[in-house]
Amino acid sequence: MAIERVFVAGAGLMGHGIAQVHAAAGKHVTLYEPDLSRATAGRDRIGGNLERQVGKGRLEASERDAILARIAATDDLAAAAEADLVVEAVFEDVAVKTSLWAELDRVAPPAAVFGTNTSSISIDRLAGAVGEARRPAFVGVHFFSPVPVMPLVELIRGSATDDATEAAMRELAAELGKQVIVSADRPGFLVNRILMPLLGEAMRAYEEGTGTAEDIDAGARIGLNHPMGPLELADFIGLDVVLGIMRVLHDGFDQPQFAPPAILERLVGEGHLGQKTGRGFHTYPR
Ligand code: CAA
Repeated sequence: MAIERVFVAGAGLMGHGIAQVHAAAGKHVTLYEPDLSRATAGRDRIGGNLERQVGKGRLEASERDAILARIAATDDLAAAAEADLVVEAVFEDVAVKTSLWAELDRVAPPAAVFGTNTSSISIDRLAGAVGEARRPAFVGVHFFSPVPVMPLVELIRGSATDDATEAAMRELAAELGKQVIVSADRPGFLVNRILMPLLGEAMRAYEEGTGTAEDIDAGARIGLNHPMGPLELADFIGLDVVLGIMRVLHDGFDQPQFAPPAILERLVGEGHLGQKTGRGFHTYPR
């Protein structure tokens, strides 16, 4: 099935990036938020990203304009009635995601693919929000931040996801220039199951005073050739998001390497969520 019209629900860090890469690949994108100013802000953020590319001589101004012209911001969920693919990238919370999917189930065409950009919540649990006829086309489509830069898409098959849906998403990912890995529907899927123990261990080493945040990050950057150290990566992802994923993993596996460190709980409790609030394990000029 050819996917040409994409409805992206959620215009935040992940949603705006997901909208951008689809529009850049020639798709017609509707970017939805219940509050129109947030949908428009997401589209403006894409404009800013594209403008930086123009400034570096990597994108023609005419291409920037053409990409932006393919993105419509909306606060009207009924616009999903036109979609070949619906991608949901709203807050990582079961209740928020399931209530949105139940609404989308009522408006989207029967043939649409339903892709959730969850980073850890069970696909079967989310697919339970839509009618049974829809579940074969319900799939996890996990992008990585920054979406325009990171070349991976993790596809997660629920127990009802069919081969046609996986094939359609593989074809689309190739058009977006992304490589696909496939995970079973297990807590944290593949990438976050690998990543979270690393972030947690770095936090525990910091908490115990084994080294400074700067040295822990330099150790991974210089000694392991990681682009970012684990504490700066946690700040970049968002400490609330990291905590949510660790909780899902710990609840799912009940193993100590997934237990959220006390310092993470404390920082989130104090409202220090990393880059987006200006403070996490590091501080960020605002
Ligand atoms: N949005 C769009 N583009 C961005 C960007 C952003 N937020 N940040 C950087 N870029 C682009 C830059 O424009 C630049 O593009 P060009 O090569 O075309 O010029 C390119 O990325 C490199 O940027 P910089 O040179 O400014 O900086 P850098 O070399 O330090 O790279 C980085 C920045 C790409 C973010 C790099 O540090 C990196 O790869 N970090 C690790 C990111 C990572 O691990 N992401 C996965 C997080 S886990 C996740 O997302 C899933 C989950 O469920 C939690």
